[in-house]
Amino acid sequence: MKLRIGLVGARGHTGRELLRLIAARDDLDLVFASSRELAGQPVCDMAPEIANGLLFESLSPGAVADRGADAVILALPNGAAGSFVAAIDAASPKTVIVDLSADYRFDDGWTYGLPEIYGRDALRSAKRIANPGCYATAGQLAIAPLRDRLAVDPHVFGVSGYSGAGTTPSRKNDLEALRDNLMPYALTGHLHEQEMSRQLGLDVRFTPHVAAFFRGIVATVHLSLLDPVTRDVLIALYETAYRDEPLVRVTGETPEIRDGAELPGAVIGGFGLSADGRHVVIVSTLDNLLKGAAVQALQNLCLALGLPE
Ligand SMILES: NC(=O)c1ccc[n+]([C@@H]2O[C@H](COP(=O)([O-])OP(=O)(O)OC[C@H]3O[C@@H](n4cnc5c(N)ncnc54)[C@H](OP(=O)(O)O)[C@@H]3O)[C@@H](O)[C@H]2O)c1
Repeated sequence: MKLRIGLVGARGHTGRELLRLIAARDDLDLVFASSRELAGQPVCDMAPEIANGLLFESLSPGAVADRGADAVILALPNGAAGSFVAAIDAASPKTVIVDLSADYRFDDGWTYGLPEIYGRDALRSAKRIANPGCYATAGQLAIAPLRDRLAVDPHVFGVSGYSGAGTTPSRKNDLEALRDNLMPYALTGHLHEQEMSRQLGLDVRFTPHVAAFFRGIVATVHLSLLDPVTRDVLIALYETAYRDEPLVRVTGETPEIRDGAELPGAVIGGFGLSADGRHVVIVSTLDNLLKGAAVQALQNLCLALGLPE
């Protein structure tokens, strides 16, 4: 029996990836795809892999809740999830919700879903799942194995493709503004800085930048250690941490944007080490739309529904 999945925000960049990922599974059935702008149009016009004749619908929060789906994925801009969550809480509390926005990442009533670091047990019984941010996933995967050995709080320098800025027009996804350019933004207090700090229990410093390529993230992470290490020990530590994780590859090379773009998982490498063995630079790459969003949402959803990731 297939489990019934609803997607709200299906027109967006992450929605598009979720359509593809859901269609590829024989244990999930997409029962609605909500978009106000595309309402009435066949979903297969945008996503040919959805072959069940579904049309996009513009569904109110109440209408989403009334469908009684096994799970609903919210792929909406920050600040838009609340009315959908409230309606589902009231009418269909057993429905699993995975929210891709930052709206519930700081809410103790929700389960934060980054299985490779925080485990799978809580996710297996979760009904309300906050999906991590894209930079926050890249940064945490790079920091987590060393988080108990740090002398100073980490610094993360991040560069993302412009799909990270969603489809609502802004300077951050304006190809004219981005042409021959690298755009720093949110120099302090970015939500993903707060998210990494909260989850890791550290005071992470993070500076995001956006560039003119479509997808992919590089996070270059500076870590100062209490005790010196050798590069071999360092790499072995990361290999051990992610040994059983098919979505995280550890490499002695330095990964670049194109090593992570379109890949379902993350690549962690670099492992630059200062002469005194105390300053480490780790490079983490992933696809912001995949392990940074849609793949991670599917992992979390499947864990909550008792399905293989
Ligand atoms: N892009 C990334 O790399 C990335 C990575 C990780 C997490 N996220 C998070 O994932 C969420 C979705 O991101 P995205 O990049 O896919 O955004 P997007 O491309 O801008 O798409 C947003 C979607 O939400 C719908 N929408 C917008 N406002 C709405 C509202 N008030 N009520 C109902 N539907 C609304 C839009 O469709 P209609 O206007 O047609 O209804 C569209 O389908 C965001 O919270 C983002 O922060 C994004």
